[in-house]
Amino acid sequence: MNNILDRLYAESHDDLASFAFDDAVVRVFPDMIQRSVPGYTTIIPMIGIITSHYVQPDSTLYDLGCSLGEATLAMRHCVDKPGCKIVAVDNSEAMIQRCQTYLDADSSRVPVELLLDDIRHITMSHASVVTLNFTLQFIAPEDRLPLLNNIVNGLNEGGVLILSEKLMFDQDEQMLQEALHYDFKRANGYSELEISQKRTALENYLIPETLEQHRERLLAAGFKQAVLWYQCFNFCSLLAVK
Ligand SMILES: C[S@@+](CC[C@H](N)C(=O)[O-])C[C@H]1O[C@@H](n2cnc3c(N)ncnc32)[C@H](O)[C@@H]1O
Repeated sequence: MNNILDRLYAESHDDLASFAFDDAVVRVFPDMIQRSVPGYTTIIPMIGIITSHYVQPDSTLYDLGCSLGEATLAMRHCVDKPGCKIVAVDNSEAMIQRCQTYLDADSSRVPVELLLDDIRHITMSHASVVTLNFTLQFIAPEDRLPLLNNIVNGLNEGGVLILSEKLMFDQDEQMLQEALHYDFKRANGYSELEISQKRTALENYLIPETLEQHRERLLAAGFKQAVLWYQCFNFCSLLAVK
């Protein structure tokens, strides 16, 4: 995927609009997510490893909030059971259009159905692996449990959800983890202005929760097990097993 450098927040904006996954973001998205999310470049290939372990024959794999399809492609290249397909869903038309070009250029023969839709409204069934890679944090908090219930209902026994999220902590740890995250962004070339304007744009749109909130809700939704398999600063990934 070609990486055009993210400079969306490099100039001062008097009137900062709320963040949106629009054309401007799509153009710089691979660069933006790699330079902003510690661990993203580790999590993507590990989604492939987890997929190989849990994929079941004749099952469907779902990538919810697929953006440009990085997790979709990681899963696609690790499906080693017959009769599987992937359904990748995003409600940003700009993301879906660009994602289709990446999927078309990819050599794997595992079928991928790309849906322009709201992940809160899709029906899932016969699922073995579901991915929510940094997507749940953009869903209104009151809609999160219903979405997880829907995922559990669509999963086969032994199926899994890979849930990656930005985390919140108690006050002292929050300051420590946040400071390290901003150091990560500075080390990747973002200025103080870019960091502060992006933070303002994401306020009230990206709503992080604590690790405990995630674990408790996953168990309340009906998963048997919910384990933290990865954390880097205030970003993590959980594996929940039905
Ligand atoms: C941070 S990106 C996800 C990154 C992607 N999973 C990856 O691994 O590269 C969040 C994505 O979720 C999508 N999204 C947010 N709310 C959604 C909803 N209600 N239904 C479908 N997609 C949604 C956004 O359009 C965006 O593409």
